[in-house]
Amino acid sequence: MRDDRTEALGRWYARHARDLPWRVPPGDGERPDPYRTWLSEVMLQQTTVAAVKDYFARFTTTWPDVRALAAADDADVMAAWAGLGYYARARNLLKCARTVVADHDGVFPRTEAALLALPGIGPYTAAAIAAIAFQERAVVVDGNVERVMTRLGAIETPLPAAKPEIRALADRLTPEDRPGDHAQAVMDLGATVCTPKSPACVICPLRDHCAGRKAGIAESLPRKAPKAPKPERRGYVYLARNGTDYLVETRPPKGLLGGMLAFPTSEWSETPLPAAPFDARWRDAGEVRHTFTHFHLTLKVLTTAKRGNPDRGEWARLDPEALPTLFAKAHRAAFPSK
Ligand code: ADE
Repeated sequence: MRDDRTEALGRWYARHARDLPWRVPPGDGERPDPYRTWLSEVMLQQTTVAAVKDYFARFTTTWPDVRALAAADDADVMAAWAGLGYYARARNLLKCARTVVADHDGVFPRTEAALLALPGIGPYTAAAIAAIAFQERAVVVDGNVERVMTRLGAIETPLPAAKPEIRALADRLTPEDRPGDHAQAVMDLGATVCTPKSPACVICPLRDHCAGRKAGIAESLPRKAPKAPKPERRGYVYLARNGTDYLVETRPPKGLLGGMLAFPTSEWSETPLPAAPFDARWRDAGEVRHTFTHFHLTLKVLTTAKRGNPDRGEWARLDPEALPTLFAKAHRAAFPSK
């Protein structure tokens, strides 16, 4: 027996499913390509649909299947990911593609448990791929699902303590048939109707079932345990430009922005020391600020037109807008008209 709430949501999704490039329309017919499902779900972690669309199109054009991606050069994949953020995802993407080719003959495993064993695939992504690409009854919980479930069940326990209650409710609603459509229905509802601010309860297919709305507390959910403020770190970034060439280096493979092409920087800390890559009269071009998961970073931007002999990195012709966002911002600070 399907839960009434699941029924109502299924009817809503049949009419209102978003048309997304990695998705097949709701129904019993065609299933999406697991490669495209996997790629889109990894890209969508901590990232909006709007930001992902162009990257997804470029990746699937350049590397149309998992064998093509597994055979790609690391530097090409990292460059194609630049701007999307959370660069560990790109490194794990390659590892995962290579594992699927080496250990699974290029075919994604079909179960949540086997997917979870692959590099870069956590509980959310394993459940999403199993449900969407393989119709396994997996319980899919992301931030959108958490918001919808806490409101529907008027769950006032703050996150993260609320996670088991949220999961139990999501589990109760997950149907045996078409669990992938169901998961995507909850996510679409969270993205378009049950939004963080000003949810559109009047048009919600679950309004008559929503305990949060009835109690007048929907918009205030989910509650969150207060977070410790993010620490501040500082550093220096060095933009050396000579004609059309810039001094760039590949960041160490582990750590923030690991493996990405970047302008040289000092260490990032509370009290960083300058670390210019060569002697020059470095001009102060202001500051850029960027927020990472665990800290805020302010970099002092220093620039020179001298082609010095650097102690690290290499001179390269490149489009600075194709670098990770922090470095594209630094370039804009140094050369505002470009
Ligand atoms: N967010 C992450 N994955 C999604 C999906 N498959 N559908 C809608 N929103 C999503």
